[in-house]
Amino acid sequence: MKSILFALAAAVLVATPVLADQALAQTKNCLSCHSIDKKIVGPAYKDVAKKYAGQKDAADKLASKIMKGGAGVWGVVPMPVNSQVNEAEAKKLAAWVLSLK
Ligand code: HEC
Repeated sequence: MKSILFALAAAVLVATPVLADQALAQTKNCLSCHSIDKKIVGPAYKDVAKKYAGQKDAADKLASKIMKGGAGVWGVVPMPVNSQVNEAEAKKLAAWVLSLK
């Protein structure tokens, strides 16, 4: 019985990293300006993933943009500095955004 519970818990842990990163985006307030498949204030994350598909340095570039903010890639509206996000979180969020299709 114990081993069945353990197997179930392991399966849940393996199956949910995408949801975990979405929850992180939610807690960090990203989803008030972004959605996965619609433009709100900022671009849809799926469009971001498409734009950078195949670019090797995309994750680092986006992680730094997530922390520092900036404008000019998607329009004149800037993304503000997201000081609530540390470097590890920014990298996780960048990798999550790039994994969306
Ligand atoms: C106040 C609104 C706002 C918030 C909050 C916000 N963004 Fe943005 N985001 C924008 C705008 C506007 C752009 C487009 C900037 C540009 O055109 O260069 C953008 C662009 C981006 C891009 C694409 C960058 C590029 O250079 O192509 C990513 C990735 C991104 N945001 C992730 C995030 C994450 C992750 C968070 C949460 C930590 C977040 N954003 C919070 C408004 C926001």
